[in-house]
Amino acid sequence: MRVVILISGRGSNMEALLRAGLPVEFAAVISNKAEAEGLKIARELGVETVVVNHKDYPDRAAYDAKLAEAIDGHGADLICLAGFMRILSEGFVNRYAGRMINIHPSLLPAFTGLDTHARALAAGVKLHGCTVHYVTPELDAGPIVVQAAVPVLGGDTPDSLGARVLEQEHRIYPLAVRWIAEGRIALTGDGRTSLQGSPASTAVLISPQG
Ligand code: GRF
Repeated sequence: MRVVILISGRGSNMEALLRAGLPVEFAAVISNKAEAEGLKIARELGVETVVVNHKDYPDRAAYDAKLAEAIDGHGADLICLAGFMRILSEGFVNRYAGRMINIHPSLLPAFTGLDTHARALAAGVKLHGCTVHYVTPELDAGPIVVQAAVPVLGGDTPDSLGARVLEQEHRIYPLAVRWIAEGRIALTGDGRTSLQGSPASTAVLISPQG
């Protein structure tokens, strides 16, 4: 399975994917920003990098066409969005239906969009987390592959909570890609996925613990 990762910045999820020893071939890392720190890490890890700068294109359609050309040129079977900070056109998303996944820093469907950690704190939730999901035209709403929950602790700031979540992002994103590469994730056609061969677990996380 050939995987292309799309980033815009730091690239810590990209790095987690590249270092996880997954049974896939990372064909390229593509960024919309030349200064994305993640590009340097990808090069150090021997992965080809490509910059497709949105500022070089007159509109979203022209940009998305160029992006698709770069992705298809690398023969991508799976596209992983990893902090790629661009809204993608419906045509682009549909072109890669069932082949494009994203990591989002909340327990979807709660807290779609930006500033998820601050919004979780403001809402007073006691559990927060992250989600890997297939990308559909509606923002942060596609079929969920895997989620991890973390407790929200008294005294948490968006940064401290975000760091706790990020640690789990680095676990579940490689897990999701592994399962997809192994052919264990089925899209059930009703907006959901199922994992083949997973033992039933009833482990519960209560927060706060009291
Ligand atoms: C992560 O929090 C991810 O969930 C969100 O954007 C952030 C990217 O961070 N989509 P990094 O570039 O992977 O370090």
